Amino acid sequence: MERKRWYKDMVFYQIWPRSFKDGNGDGMGDLWGVLEKLDYIKSLGCDGIWFSPIYPSPGADCGYDIADYMDIAPEFGGMEAFKKVLDGVHERGMKLVMDLVVNHTSDEHEWFQKSRKRIEPYTDYYIWRPAKPNGKLPNNWDSNFEGKAWTFDEERGEYYLHLFAVKQPDLNMDNPLVREEVKKILRFWLDMGVDGFREDVITYISKAEGLPDDHLFPIYKGMPKYNHGPHIHEYLAEFKRDVFDHYDCFTLAEAPLVWPKQALKYIDEEKGQLDMMIQFQCQCADCLFTDYIPMKFSLVRMKKAFSDWQYKLSGRAWNMLYLENHDHPRIISRYGSEKFREESGKTLAVSYLFQQGTPFLYQGQEIGMLNWKPEDAEMYEDVQTRYNYAHSNLNKSKEERLHKMWRSSRDSARTPMQWDSTENAGFTTGKPWFYVNPNYTEINVAAQEENPDSLLNFYRKAIKLRKSLESVRFGNYKEYYRLNSKLYVYSRESENEKILAVCSFSEKEEKIKIPSGFDIAKAELILCNYSEPGEKLLPYESRVYLWKK
Ligand code: NOJ
Repeated sequence: MERKRWYKDMVFYQIWPRSFKDGNGDGMGDLWGVLEKLDYIKSLGCDGIWFSPIYPSPGADCGYDIADYMDIAPEFGGMEAFKKVLDGVHERGMKLVMDLVVNHTSDEHEWFQKSRKRIEPYTDYYIWRPAKPNGKLPNNWDSNFEGKAWTFDEERGEYYLHLFAVKQPDLNMDNPLVREEVKKILRFWLDMGVDGFREDVITYISKAEGLPDDHLFPIYKGMPKYNHGPHIHEYLAEFKRDVFDHYDCFTLAEAPLVWPKQALKYIDEEKGQLDMMIQFQCQCADCLFTDYIPMKFSLVRMKKAFSDWQYKLSGRAWNMLYLENHDHPRIISRYGSEKFREESGKTLAVSYLFQQGTPFLYQGQEIGMLNWKPEDAEMYEDVQTRYNYAHSNLNKSKEERLHKMWRSSRDSARTPMQWDSTENAGFTTGKPWFYVNPNYTEINVAAQEENPDSLLNFYRKAIKLRKSLESVRFGNYKEYYRLNSKLYVYSRESENEKILAVCSFSEKEEKIKIPSGFDIAKAELILCNYSEPGEKLLPYESRVYLWKK
């Protein structure tokens, strides 16, 4: 089937279901709640929804530990609610994308339960190894969440590999039967009408032959031996050939530690096996590879990440554009300024919405939700946060360790969506499963609906503009003043028009810089986050100019 690549014209909204909207009053976000909010999502100008996992799961990693791939968890409303949401999405001319998590399952998945008992054909569904003769672990790999990547299973008498939590055993993708299972899952949802998949850590599914030792600190010393493994392209091509090529759908690959050159091996429009890629470079302007090693925010680093992907993918592959998701703290608290929340939120919006690619918004980003800052580390829910807190910086004070978590924890962006200023932010009428950020009385959707100049309405305006401009869809990207640490200036140019985006990341007034060849006197100012733009740029001011040719 010929690929239509409709995703190129879309803007997606990511829902992290348990914190989005509770429709039945049990305190947990669910699909009934989503159903109530479909018009809201559409009103933003978003025409696609990506759901973080909604399958049955014990919840060791908030649903990224799946116990049944072909059902919807009862707490989210089961299949009945899902079908209603799917219909509701399609009736509105929107698309729905599921999260495909097949690097690992939950240890409560039937396959794992049978595998640990060596019941065929499941014996080799996972990566099992005996201890080494000297009693050592099968290799030195670290998991991403909870210490070493190997846990001993008494029942089977062997170690299993888990690159994430102990309750997330890695599947053995080298086993053709496992790949057939993946295809069954894909067909199941595609046949139901789902429009595509976001593929969780998909570059991890092929591990190095023989599982050799890694560098001790893989993150600093090179690529972990389980990323971009020897059969990765072969397996992805197999999924494409046997499944995706037969449906009008798209695929979005999550890929930690990937740079554009390598990304092209996956997403080149001629030769790739996938459509778009979630890269992490744009998340590293204030940290070293991970949020757990924070650094001072550098606009130059942010710009470099943006431009690298814009230039290097140009004409060959399509960018996925994002600032936030459920794995990173809130962007205003990181790259913007909590003091200039509205202004910096708008500048951040302009800094990515006019690039080439398909933008994604994460729930709450559109109203400028900020990092959650609990007063006690015990309040954290996330497995990665809890492990990190318990095992790092033990020589520092409790307060310092807690403050570090505010900046690093995924829970900083997982608090319930702030719908209004009533109790629990209008998220639930019951007892919320998780803490609501106390700033909801001030930051919420209802308040911003009423204000034409709110961040929420700015997002609407910017998205509408983006969709109306051919230069944003097709035009060339160019960055100016690369080393300027206060301004991000970029243009997009197509046959009939060009635009220039000027974004200040400064808390002070800044002199505006316009590249030569752009005659401001002849331009139309089509977007600005201040009502009366003057000679200088005000704090976090951003402007978009348009020239028609
Ligand atoms: C990436 C997901 O986005 C994250 O939330 C999850 O914890 C890991 N993969 C493991 O599935």
